[in-house]
Amino acid sequence: MACSRMALAIVIRLACLTAVFAAPFSFKDNPLGNGFPMIVQPSDALTVISVNAHGSLPNSPPPPNKPSADALTSLRLIAFNELFEVAYFTELLNNITNNVEGYEVGGRDDARNFMIKALTAVQAQEELHVLNANGAITHFGGEAIQPCTYNFPVSNINDAITLAQTFTDVVLGTLQDVVSLFGTDGDTALIRGVSSVIGQEGEQNGWYRTFLGKVPSALPFLTTSTREFAFSALQGFVVPGSCPNLDTIKLQIFKPLTVITANPEPKEQDITFSVEIAKDSDWMSSYSITYINQQNLPINKPISNVNIVDRTVTFSANFPYDMATFGNGMTIAAVTNSTGSFDSASDVAKATVFGPGLIEIN
Ligand SMILES: *[C@@H]1O[C@H](CO)[C@@H](O)[C@H](O)[C@H]1NC(C)=O
Ligand SMILES: *[C@@H]1O[C@H](CO)[C@@H](O)[C@H](O)[C@H]1NC(C)=O
Repeated sequence: MACSRMALAIVIRLACLTAVFAAPFSFKDNPLGNGFPMIVQPSDALTVISVNAHGSLPNSPPPPNKPSADALTSLRLIAFNELFEVAYFTELLNNITNNVEGYEVGGRDDARNFMIKALTAVQAQEELHVLNANGAITHFGGEAIQPCTYNFPVSNINDAITLAQTFTDVVLGTLQDVVSLFGTDGDTALIRGVSSVIGQEGEQNGWYRTFLGKVPSALPFLTTSTREFAFSALQGFVVPGSCPNLDTIKLQIFKPLTVITANPEPKEQDITFSVEIAKDSDWMSSYSITYINQQNLPINKPISNVNIVDRTVTFSANFPYDMATFGNGMTIAAVTNSTGSFDSASDVAKATVFGPGLIEIN
């Protein structure tokens, strides 16, 4: 099911073909048994989480003024994303701890112990990120975001860490959007806390990249994203219809864009994509592919080799990789309905019809 609207396509496509159909993850049978995400503050359960997280929820008072409606939307998206991350790292930690096939950490015992120690911290830190975001939402009279049931399209440790790196890249881009909007909307009291999480997720990602044999720091200026791209990508991991209050998150969900080209090399090349359409008029010859990479102006490329079989449209577009200027780290691809030049990732999101497709190089 996760494969049907797979946004994190490169990593996942292969995994989809060989997917082990494990039961979807639900917090109802959370192996941690601590009642998360219903954690009373204070409580023994919270103390255990904080010990594992090596630190606490912020104890400074919440901002005196109610955040803007848009800031609350951002907090809801953060809670939605962090709930997914808790689910993911809980299952990953469990797989490694129980030596599930594909998750045996080879080599010395030290490597396995380190992995368990690090993921125990990450898992608990993500729990505190959820409690912090949901705590702010409920403090200002909103409804806490509730977890969904999740499906993860990975079945070995390398794919699992690759996927963790990819979704963390999306988060690192999206929190840039969130703090910019806090600034624009005058929600300055929220900027410091969320910025502390940007660094925190960056520390995690340096480790995922190192594990994969990549240079720990991907780029001089990390690729930016928008809230809509993150929210759309996350739909690929949730069992449709399983999120109790998804509709309280007022952000657009784009139709999925799949990147067919697996593990693209660091060179200029054509990349193949596909989308599913419901009717012929859902595909227009005026569409193009737009790429967002680093903090640079988005690049627009024409679509070619369009092939429509049943309801699947396959097509390709040039990917103008250049070691010095374009294509390292995460690139967000989107099918847009404007051939005009875009000034920003937000401009791209406004014209996006299908997306995001995520391309990772180096
Ligand atoms: C844990 O292992 C199961 C069985 O291989 C797999 O289906 C699931 O996706 C894995 N979860 C993660 C987060 O790696
Ligand atoms: C282009 O796509 C955007 C976003 O999906 C949509 O709001 C807009 O109406 C579309 N414009 C055209 C001309 O199709």
